[in-house]
Amino acid sequence: MNRRDFTRGLMFGVGYLAIAPTFVACKKTPPAVGSALSGVLPKLKPADWDPVAFNLERGLAGSIPESYHAAITSPDGVEKHVGKHLPYVPRVPERLVPDGFIPIMWGDPSKGYAKHPNAAPSDANGGQGHWYNWIRIRKAVQDAPEEETTFVSWPEVGSESTGSYVVMGNGDIREDGGRNTIYLAARPHGVRTGDVVRVHAHCLTHGEWVDFITV
Ligand SMILES: [Fe+2]
Repeated sequence: MNRRDFTRGLMFGVGYLAIAPTFVACKKTPPAVGSALSGVLPKLKPADWDPVAFNLERGLAGSIPESYHAAITSPDGVEKHVGKHLPYVPRVPERLVPDGFIPIMWGDPSKGYAKHPNAAPSDANGGQGHWYNWIRIRKAVQDAPEEETTFVSWPEVGSESTGSYVVMGNGDIREDGGRNTIYLAARPHGVRTGDVVRVHAHCLTHGEWVDFITV
């Protein structure tokens, strides 16, 4: 099954997911790739790469909303806030990941990080919602294209999204505050298992995050 077939399967309720895109929340237009918000990011994984230090510095400089600065710099800010936004590839059955996608979650429990929740727009979050609305991935080499995947709503991914969701454990995606949501992001052409990629992604509530991971 290729990516297009899988997405069509989701749209028409076919396949192994029962997540029908019955509504599309307020649509967000992500900043264009290469916009000022993207800034200059390292293309290759630096030998001394430290995602916590990098994201703290970049975040305090503006890529993370000021309203979140106190949390990320608090004594338990790394575990509860910074680490919570760093991507990792979860161990999931291959059948859940169609060709052309990379499964991504945020906040690796094996590193002691809090798991990132996901929430639909509500009064509690100012009608904004809380999920990653875009994920950009490129192979961590000098010359490689960056591919962006969009997620226009949660818990239904929405027919205008280019990505989709599956659920860790196959339960209800809303359980545990949405913490079992697995994002299926487009695998850029030429990226193979074992490659290091750069992930640049945007949480609607908490801004932009950057890390290098092995897929
Ligand atoms: Fe967040």
